[in-house]
Amino acid sequence: MPAAGVPLADRTLRAALGEAGPLGSTVLQLAARLRSDPDRIIGSLERLAGRSEVVRMGRGLWVLREFEELGDRDGFLTPEAVAEEFERAEGVALGTYRGPITFTDTQDRPIHRWWPYVQGYSAEFVRGVLESADLPEGAGVLDPFAGSGTTLVEARRHGYRAFGIELLPPAALAARVKTRFELPPRALVGAYRRWIEQARRRAPGALPFLRETHRQFSARTLRDLTRLRDALPSSDRPESEALRLLFGSVLIPSSRLHRSPCLGYRRRAVDGPGPFARVEAGVRAMTEDLESIARARRRWGPPATVLEEDARRAVLPKGRIGLAITSPPYVNGMDYVMNYKLDLAWLGYASSYADLAELRRREVACDNLPRSDPGLQRAIRTDLDPWLPAILQAIRGNLARKGSYRRDDMDAVVQRYFADLLPVVENVHRALKPRARWVVVVGDSLLAGAYVPGDLLFARLARSRGFRIVAVEVARQRRSGQRRSFALRESVVTLERADG
Ligand SMILES: C[S@@+](CC[C@H](N)C(=O)[O-])C[C@H]1O[C@@H](n2cnc3c(N)ncnc32)[C@H](O)[C@@H]1O
Repeated sequence: MPAAGVPLADRTLRAALGEAGPLGSTVLQLAARLRSDPDRIIGSLERLAGRSEVVRMGRGLWVLREFEELGDRDGFLTPEAVAEEFERAEGVALGTYRGPITFTDTQDRPIHRWWPYVQGYSAEFVRGVLESADLPEGAGVLDPFAGSGTTLVEARRHGYRAFGIELLPPAALAARVKTRFELPPRALVGAYRRWIEQARRRAPGALPFLRETHRQFSARTLRDLTRLRDALPSSDRPESEALRLLFGSVLIPSSRLHRSPCLGYRRRAVDGPGPFARVEAGVRAMTEDLESIARARRRWGPPATVLEEDARRAVLPKGRIGLAITSPPYVNGMDYVMNYKLDLAWLGYASSYADLAELRRREVACDNLPRSDPGLQRAIRTDLDPWLPAILQAIRGNLARKGSYRRDDMDAVVQRYFADLLPVVENVHRALKPRARWVVVVGDSLLAGAYVPGDLLFARLARSRGFRIVAVEVARQRRSGQRRSFALRESVVTLERADG
């Protein structure tokens, strides 16, 4: 290895970055590739940056200036070009949705605050969709990716029969508990007192299987959490499940982690209240919310149904649903299993890393799927969408050019994502009444240097399976993690069951 401090030839560095192309390289990747010292690479990069020959993108990636704007490159499909093509092919121009869309707007609201789910959407958005649909009382409202139950809570509150499917056990627990409006506050408080009394008498218990448990929590917090966990009532009575949710909801706030939206360590330790104080505040909020919702009891719809199942296979009542509202996982958006591993482990839904891997295999594909997953196929499926082969080819081309990337089968992950959504689209189509609508919040992505219009592909997939595309409205802009300067979007796609 050449000595540190000796500058690297500009030509050598430019050539290495040129090979990485639009994907760029980190300092460590360049150091490994050029067998050089990272400090030397940094010095050389800064020199080139001073001459505007290289640019630093998001996540520590460096690219040659010519790759700064993806849209300038031959063959790169820009969001604008794809939207124009969509309008030509589907006769629908992208509009604008005005109104709150993210869960941030909802996380302090009664009931919704019981288990803040950053991946959720806003209750106000769901209310708007319900109100404009103007369904008859008691009509069925479905959410096939129900998450923490935002759709179900609002549907029941508006007098509808709510159906939800959700595979992630802690989220399904949240959806069940949050839609049980009839839970008497006194029963909850009684169960809470018995729980706390028992927990105070218990000795600290065994730690969950997660390797980083000692890093995630202080020793004192761990003692309190294991006592609380071991005293939780095991029945599936509504008040017992509410206490389980309450326990789950204090895990992250009591830890050194945060979710924003992915799980990560906080920069600075925050000494907040301990778990016992947190569950006490939580039960107070729950009882207040139950009392306040009871005042509108006359408007509630029938009890909600929450199926803790795979939405690709769930059996739904045929042709009985008046409206579906949902937000699926986004292509490469989120590894829900990784992000909720604390809840899964502490609540006893997973006892090993193998359990987590099994659950991940059943969720809609994300890029943490193991390479060995039998569902990851590199052969292009022609039944998904005619746009997909070119996108998959672009990803493959970028990966082949760079040579090293987080995973060399990203094209297979993207294909598997759309293949996973297809049976859900068919399932919802069967469940809806003729002419009923399905409103979907979904985003686009930038993956391995290729643009993947997830929202428009979702709309096209639905159209190919018997839906009419009513509208695609952009609700907000997001930033690509790969390139901070690349604007992604989140859209509201409105579909209608076309037959009948
Ligand atoms: C964007 S979130 C939905 C959030 C929800 N709208 C809310 O407000 O809480 C997508 C959900 O889909 C779930 N999911 C992923 N794959 C699934 C599958 N195969 N079957 C059912 N649910 C699945 C994830 O666990 C996640 O909770």
